[in-house]
Amino acid sequence: VEIIRTIEWMKQTARAARMSGHVIGLVPTMGALHDGHFSLIQAAKQRCSPVIATIFVNPAQFGPAEDLAKYPRSFEADCEALEKRGVDYLFAPTAEQIYPKGFSTYVTVEGLSSRLEGKSRPGHFRGVATIVLKLLEITQPHFAFFGRKDAQQERVIRTMAGDLNLDAEILACPIVREASGLALSSRNAYLSADQNKSALKLSRALLATKKEIEAGERNAVQLIRTVRDVLAGDPGLEVDYAEIVDADTFEPVMHLRLACYVLLAAKVGTTRLIDNALVEQVGEEFQVTV
Ligand code: PAF
Repeated sequence: VEIIRTIEWMKQTARAARMSGHVIGLVPTMGALHDGHFSLIQAAKQRCSPVIATIFVNPAQFGPAEDLAKYPRSFEADCEALEKRGVDYLFAPTAEQIYPKGFSTYVTVEGLSSRLEGKSRPGHFRGVATIVLKLLEITQPHFAFFGRKDAQQERVIRTMAGDLNLDAEILACPIVREASGLALSSRNAYLSADQNKSALKLSRALLATKKEIEAGERNAVQLIRTVRDVLAGDPGLEVDYAEIVDADTFEPVMHLRLACYVLLAAKVGTTRLIDNALVEQVGEEFQVTV
């Protein structure tokens, strides 16, 4: 993997690849790479050459009381992993390059950015949309790959790409889980063994919903009651939100629709975790992907 540290060199490299007819794939990350990221890389490798991964812990998407300073960083190990997986370029700029003195332009996807994650983390999606737009501009990909664990983030980015007529096609890849069911996240590194047990309740709650939907339940209020029952009574776990939303608008639904998400966010100790299940209507049935 060739490590690129400057915006100019990355732009020049991407421009040359485009000019010579290559299909560029982008996998943006904040590092501390795990199998979830590697699944994005694998998806990118299937369609694109070259594949560009980025590692940038984006200060603009962290609130003042959030974990920017202690966010897990493992640059050397990440580089080795990217090399092993045949990634062509790693773009790893400094914060000073991305946000130089006087930087004052931000992108906001209105509406969508102020609900759920956006409500709990004011400014978060503004930071995400801004960095992703910059990375798309700098790396000029044909396809950009994001994980469906961050379902609302993916929707924000897809909306931005549509609204701003960006060239890149935004692709979402399935959630990758540990054998225990825990959705992979760089933040899982913060969890103690006990907290890990509490964290497992998120995927258990989603599996309970899946079972109920498969048994015929369609009412969102009842399904959320089930979720909350599974999560209740664990002093180590504090639910932020549990909602069923339309997969397109992220507005709450009363009854299951063509495509919706069961979205969960909870704090385990000081670690904020999110998880979701995708519910899709297939004929008369609903298919639930946890
Ligand atoms: O999902 C992430 O890791 C980040 O939000 C992203 C998309 C790399 C932007 O910083």
